Amino acid sequence: MLTDAEMNRVEDIKARFKTIYGSDPAMVLRAPGRVNLIGEHTDYNDGFVLPAAIERSVLIAASHRSDRIVNGFAANYNRSTNFSLDKLEHATETSDRWSNYMRAMAWTLTGEGMRLQGVNLVVAGDVPLGSGLSSSAAMLVACGLLFSEAAGSRLDPVRLALLAQKAEREFVGVNVGIMDQYISALGKQHNALLIDTRSLTYKAVPLPSQGVSIVIADTNKRRGLVESEYNTRRSECEQAVSILKRFLPSITALRDVSVEEFKQYEQELPEPVRSRARHVITEDARTLQMADALSKGDIELCGKLMNESHESLRQDYAVSCKELDSLVEAARSIPGVYGARMTGAGFGGCTVSLVADEAVPDFEERVPKLYKNATGLDASLLFTGAAEGAGRLL
Ligand code: GLA
Repeated sequence: MLTDAEMNRVEDIKARFKTIYGSDPAMVLRAPGRVNLIGEHTDYNDGFVLPAAIERSVLIAASHRSDRIVNGFAANYNRSTNFSLDKLEHATETSDRWSNYMRAMAWTLTGEGMRLQGVNLVVAGDVPLGSGLSSSAAMLVACGLLFSEAAGSRLDPVRLALLAQKAEREFVGVNVGIMDQYISALGKQHNALLIDTRSLTYKAVPLPSQGVSIVIADTNKRRGLVESEYNTRRSECEQAVSILKRFLPSITALRDVSVEEFKQYEQELPEPVRSRARHVITEDARTLQMADALSKGDIELCGKLMNESHESLRQDYAVSCKELDSLVEAARSIPGVYGARMTGAGFGGCTVSLVADEAVPDFEERVPKLYKNATGLDASLLFTGAAEGAGRLL
């Protein structure tokens, strides 16, 4: 079930396609962005995450071509691209860079042995860019659906997620985990997913249908540093595993270390590796606890865990920033806010708060003001339910 706004966007993109190509599209594909409720920086440690797909997405309207040319138009940028599937290269022209995710996905699928077909397409998205809501994962998953459907083969959603992750890793060069692509491909309406990033299985956890809202607030501080810092955190986690392995030989990832075991051996780790490991190990425990609390309707506990997660990300993992901290603080000062934390990789982007429905007007009115006073920046708020994962709409 799409929201009214999304249904309108589908009609718009179909009309746009017809104007440009002179016929109706043969297919419309959709892939959503995501918000992570808890379980941050755990996915590349084989751990647990609890994200939900959001009611913001990338849409692609397309039709088949008989050759191997991709002819595309990006409605957000008002720009076109044209490239051959026989010559997949990075676009270097500024005006064509938007098409790189598309090229990356085509290249990845070709590498997997899929014989792709040319397409005419229009793409349009409303996931805010660079805000930590996974606009790039949504784009890659939508392109994965497009090229596989156009080639007449349907990818299993977990495989689709893995291929989108591969494209992001190889193309952007950030060694990302699987969370963003997985939730975009497999999200369930009205549910968050407790994903086990080791087994790549999930448990759907229903979100409360009334009484509490998920409010995303964008710091409008674009994420800086994220690529190099992300890869550094990742290698610090690997260092922690290699040292802890001397005492716990069966472990292969931080996921395998319990909070008690960590307390026993943490002195063996140098800083900052010790703090990084503490975050990941305690965050995994919080994520499991939060999934349980959510399914029991214990929203107070959910909020407390989210607050603890933010503190751990700020102090131990050092991926927060002044803007995220100010926005979290502003949110927490409103009576009726159960908890607030940064969401996504960090260094800017968005926060997520659990807010009692009756406190939402107060939140809307006061949080942006408090944030502006603290930082001089404007926050934008986004209200969303949990949306369905990617799929073909037409
Ligand atoms: C980014 C990555 C994810 C995950 C988060 C942090 O969104 O793409 O794989 O690691 O950061 O939790």
